Amino acid sequence: MSSTPPCRICAAPVQEFFDFGRQPLSDAFPAPDADFSQEFFFRLAVGVCESCTMVQLMEEVPRDKMFHEEYPYFSSGSAFMREHFTNLAKQLLADELTAEDPFIVELGCNDGVMLKAIADHGVRHLGVEPSASVADVAASKGIRVRTSFFEEATAREIHAEDGPADVIYAANTLCHIPYMGSILAGVNALLKPTGVFVFEDPYLGDIVERTSFDQIYDEHFYFFTARSVQEMARRNGLELVHVERLTVHGGEVRYFLAPAGQRTPSEAVAALVAEETERKLSDLATLKAFGANVVKIREDLTALLTKLRDEGKTVVGYGATAKSATVTNLCGIGPDLVPFICDTTPAKQGRLSPGTHIPVKTPDAFSSEYPDYALLFAWNHAEEIMAKEQEFREAGGKWILYVPTVHVV
Ligand code: SAH
Ligand code: TYD
Repeated sequence: MSSTPPCRICAAPVQEFFDFGRQPLSDAFPAPDADFSQEFFFRLAVGVCESCTMVQLMEEVPRDKMFHEEYPYFSSGSAFMREHFTNLAKQLLADELTAEDPFIVELGCNDGVMLKAIADHGVRHLGVEPSASVADVAASKGIRVRTSFFEEATAREIHAEDGPADVIYAANTLCHIPYMGSILAGVNALLKPTGVFVFEDPYLGDIVERTSFDQIYDEHFYFFTARSVQEMARRNGLELVHVERLTVHGGEVRYFLAPAGQRTPSEAVAALVAEETERKLSDLATLKAFGANVVKIREDLTALLTKLRDEGKTVVGYGATAKSATVTNLCGIGPDLVPFICDTTPAKQGRLSPGTHIPVKTPDAFSSEYPDYALLFAWNHAEEIMAKEQEFREAGGKWILYVPTVHVV
């Protein structure tokens, strides 16, 4: 256990509860001929703030190392997620973007998976997206994008150019940003008094319940709860006014923040905070028990893969997710246990998995000769993937899952 760094929300000490050890950048896929001595590693460890209860990484990775012109995560890769974001756009258009000439800003718009539906409605919008690889795709769809990091200065510039926003939205992005004071100062500067800041991210309650430890990697700095978000909002002139639980990405919560005193909080907020208190969700003992479950999964997964290899069975990884970097590096899973991972993302194909250097291949490599087992790293897309890979099942193939425990289906 190392020292207790100050909480990035309230400066109180952060108590570490699990150390994943040396980990690479989860979305940096080196070329086979890369100079591996240049691969970046850091200590991935997670802790909980003694005071505001925010769960957070113990070490921050510099943002320019993660989000740049080669960032390979394209949000539109999942049909299910495309539908999810189209539905959200409709909800915002109906409930929040009803003023005259409304304006919405999205942080981390990626390839435009959500803003496309907004742009199609002719509603004024702006995506703020630092990774040019994905921002360029959004722009090619007719979406207005600013290729930069959102922070207070960016927010003030947007306000000066476009006026105040009715909605600021962020999906799977706010949890990526350690410098929260600057972000929320920016939200305050940009949002109308009647406006709302909506964001959705993996929910600590689901991560603990399912031991979905692979949600913990360099890019995911914060693991929110209603309680910690309520506290974070309060300290920054905002108020948590509504929460919705979501099933996507293994369980998320959509949080609605408004300038303090502007909206009456819904009963859902108090109910979720009470549930978290009842579960002792942010207690160090609960989080240490989560850590013990992670160790058990590591042991069981490594034992299963070793046994299958020794029996001469073939195992292929399915989905070169950022999450899989945590799994493979924590468990020491390399090409000897999993000879390749298939993935639909062209930017990952022909490359190697971060740290463990498992080759990433096209889905054809999977279907041309089905393996005995597929290790489902993209388990959050299980329904979509299993539906389209029925032939694999019919050919006798089995799926290996490791959340909430190691099991074969
Ligand atoms: N909203 C999409 C993308 C999530 S990936 C989805 O839910 O699928 C996270 C995105 O946040 C990446 O595209 C990354 O480039 C972007 N990002 C990281 N830091 C940011 C910042 N400070 N401001 C805006 N976007 C940021
Ligand atoms: P995802 O689980 O959404 O996120 P993260 O990288 O943050 O953990 O990543 C899904 C990955 O799986 C992405 O690289 C695309 C790939 N994928 C497939 O190969 N086939 C599919 O059918 C789907 C839905 C995703």
